[in-house]
Amino acid sequence: MQRDPRRRPPLFRTTVGTIACIGLAGCATATGEGIVQDAFVSSLNSASGATEVPITAASTNAPTYYANVLPIVAENCVDCHQPQGKNLGGMIAPFSLASYEEAEPWARVMALRVTEGVMPPWHPHPMHKGTFVGERYLAEEDKQTIVAWAEAGAPAGDPVDTPEHAKETLAKALEQTLTDREWWIGEPDLVLGFAEPYRVEDDIRDLNVTVNLQVPEDFTEPRWIKANEMRAGSRNVHHICGEPFGCITPGWDPYVYPEGFAMLLPPVKEIGLGMHYNKQPGEGTAFGDQSRAAAIFYDEGETIRHIVRRAVLSVGEDFVIPAGHPSFSITHEFEFDEESLILSLTPHMHFRGITAKYELLYPDGTLELLLWVPRWDFEWQRMYVFEEPKRAPAGSKLLWTPTWDNSADNTYNPDPTIDVPYGLPTEMEMGNGWMDWTIAEPIEHVVGRDPIPQDVLDEATKRLDERASAAGRRVIDNVLEEGTESGVDDH
Ligand code: HEC
Repeated sequence: MQRDPRRRPPLFRTTVGTIACIGLAGCATATGEGIVQDAFVSSLNSASGATEVPITAASTNAPTYYANVLPIVAENCVDCHQPQGKNLGGMIAPFSLASYEEAEPWARVMALRVTEGVMPPWHPHPMHKGTFVGERYLAEEDKQTIVAWAEAGAPAGDPVDTPEHAKETLAKALEQTLTDREWWIGEPDLVLGFAEPYRVEDDIRDLNVTVNLQVPEDFTEPRWIKANEMRAGSRNVHHICGEPFGCITPGWDPYVYPEGFAMLLPPVKEIGLGMHYNKQPGEGTAFGDQSRAAAIFYDEGETIRHIVRRAVLSVGEDFVIPAGHPSFSITHEFEFDEESLILSLTPHMHFRGITAKYELLYPDGTLELLLWVPRWDFEWQRMYVFEEPKRAPAGSKLLWTPTWDNSADNTYNPDPTIDVPYGLPTEMEMGNGWMDWTIAEPIEHVVGRDPIPQDVLDEATKRLDERASAAGRRVIDNVLEEGTESGVDDH
C-alpha cells in the first residue's frame, strides 16, 4: 500500500496506550500519554494478536450472519453502511452491510476494524458512556462475535434464525432515506448553497478550503436558529465545518437545539463553510460540489429562554510544536462568571492533534473530566452534545487541553522534521476547543418584540466574519433559492 501522509488511513491508526488504559480510573486524568502507533497491520491475525482479542470460535458452533452478526450490524453499523445511509447529502459509508451478500466479502476487514476500535467511529473514552447524544460504543462481546464469525469463514446460517428485534432495527435503519429536496430538520427558512459547483480537479487527493456562501441581500435582520443542517454535495466531501452551523461527518445528525434554546444568526454578507474534500486522484475523477446549508428559525412571538453562545477556547497563536515532539500540549482556561449550562464541546486541531480533553475546575478545587478523547481523529471531528446540559457554577473554569504528536509515529504527520507554528492551513496547527453554553438562569426574550442584546450580536458577528475571512477562501456567488435544483454529485 502506498503511504501518503496527507491521506493517513484513519483506519490504521491504533492507540496502544489508550487501549491499555481502558477501564482504569487512572486514565481519566491522563494527559495525552496515548501513543499513536503506526499499525500497518496487514492481516487479521497480527491485529487481533496485538490487541489480544481472544478468538473463541469453533467451526461447529461458530456465529452466523443471520443469527448473530446481523443483530449487531443492524444496531451499530447500518445507520451508515447502507445503500442510501444516514445520508447527509452524499456523505455516506463506502459500502452496505445490510445483507449477507454485501457483508460477507468484508468479514475479515470488519473484524479488524472493530477490534482496533475504529469502527463504529466514536472517539470519546468509554468512561463517558451515557453522557453524549448519538454515542456509538460497541460492546466487547459484539466485537468478539464479529471476529469469531470472520475466523469461521463468515457463515451465512439460516435467515429464519434472524431475531425479530434485529429485523425491526434493520428495517428502521433502512427507512431513513431522503430525497434530494428534503431536509432532516424539516422545511427550512433559509437555504444556502453553491450556485455554481466548486470544482475539485483530477489531481486532487485531499483539499481543505473555506468556501464562502453569499447570504441573500434581503437577509438584513438577525434571526434565532432553532435547527440547522448541512448537506454535502458529493461523496467526496469528507466533512464540513461552518459557523454557526457546527460540523458534519458521516452519520452525524443535524443539530436541533433544545426547546427554548437558540443560536443567533447575525445579518452577515457571507457565511464560510470549511470544506474537506478527499478522493483518489486520477484522470476523470474531477467533480463539482454543490454543498448546502439550511436553518429553521424561531418565529415572531416565540419565547427564547436560553441564548446559546459559542466560545472558542483558543490556545493562542504564539505556540510552536517542536519537530519530533510526541506529546505537546497547552491548556486554556475559560471562567464562568455566572452559573451556566454547557451544551456541547467540539475539539478542533489539525493533522498533528492526537488527544483532546475538557475538564471543569469547580470553585472548591474539584476537577471533573468532561470529555476525554484519547484518540482524537482529524477525519472524524464533531460536536459532542451533552444529553443533559452540564451545569457549571459561577467561578468554575473550563480547562481545554489539546495535545499534538509531531513525531513520525503520527501517521497523519506530513513532516515530523519541522517545528510547527499556529496557522490556518492543515499543515500548520490550531488548538481551538469550541463550547456551546448558556447562562443557567432562564430569560424571557420574545422574538420580534425584545431587542437583541448588543454583546450577543457583536460576538456572533465577529465569529462569523472571522470564519468567512479565513485565508485561502474562495467566494462563491449567489444563493440557492428554496427548491432550486442542486443534484447530489455521485462521482
Ligand atoms: C457513523 C457512520 C459509520 C458507522 C456507524 C459505521 N461505519 Fe464503518 N465506515 C464509515 C465510513 C465513512 C467509512 C469510510 C472510512 C473513511 O473514509 O475514513 C467506513 C469504513 C468501514 C470499513 C472499511 C475499512 C477499510 O479498511 O477499508 C469497514 C470494514 C467498516 N467501516 C465496518 C464497520 C462496522 C462493522 C460497523 C459497525 C460495527 C461500522 N463500520 C459502523 C462509517 C461508519
